[in-house]
Amino acid sequence: MTNLRNEAPIGIFDSGLGGLTVARALSERLPHEDLVYLGDTARTPYGTRSPQTVMNYAHACARVLREQRAKVLVIACNTVSALALDSLAGELFLPVMGVVIPGARAALAQSPRGRVGVLASQGTVRSGAYPRAIAKLQPGAQVFLEAAPLLVPLVEEGWLSGDVPRLALCKYLEPLVAHDIDALLLGCTHYPLLDSLLRPQLAALSGKDIPIIDSAHAIADEVADMIESKHLATERDDAGKLRIVVTDQGEDFDHAAERFLGRSLHGIAVNAIDL
Ligand code: DGL
Repeated sequence: MTNLRNEAPIGIFDSGLGGLTVARALSERLPHEDLVYLGDTARTPYGTRSPQTVMNYAHACARVLREQRAKVLVIACNTVSALALDSLAGELFLPVMGVVIPGARAALAQSPRGRVGVLASQGTVRSGAYPRAIAKLQPGAQVFLEAAPLLVPLVEEGWLSGDVPRLALCKYLEPLVAHDIDALLLGCTHYPLLDSLLRPQLAALSGKDIPIIDSAHAIADEVADMIESKHLATERDDAGKLRIVVTDQGEDFDHAAERFLGRSLHGIAVNAIDL
């Protein structure tokens, strides 16, 4: 007999469309699972808002995904993971996972001397969530943080190459490189899209091959393990479906969503809701 709970979708949410990088990593890692993605596009960005506002928005998003019968909740947004994970996990009767701990664990695994650099939004940096997670996982490891507020708007505008994003990256990477980091963790949904600029910039500034950790892949692996260990995996073996729910479907929605998702929206249901 079909177990209805196992056939429910994995719920993912983010402040906007950037978390589609996490949806993409999850659909590659768990190709048979249905996914429902909520992007709070009407209120993005969260990274510059106060902790209380992020908390209120996060709870509203989580309630929507609970109504959609999500079997687990994946917080794709670093800012929400940093500020509201414990509060969400306390309120929802669902397994909840955020990107901070999987990202921190993956960064430490690639950091032989425990010197991790983190690029993130101001809210994530101010929260201290990455240093806390890293200290818990590996006491004595050192974390160097850099808030990179210009990178989200650049990626939103689709400025993924050229002098402007290159110079902005340079400005944010320089202080991290000066700390002689041995791994760079991308603590924001948007930064993986800058990968083709980031890698050469980091190599040029450091003269080394510093590993870059994208927390989207790190969380996809941990969600797969969690679903397995909690016996929540789907029993179906056909391709899982992705549904996208947004709080505002602006003019450039299709292009922006496809950029983060890395594929066409063809065949993907998109709904706009009021929150
Ligand atoms: N999703 C956010 C994060 O990962 C970036 C965009 C925003 O500031 O809302 O922190």
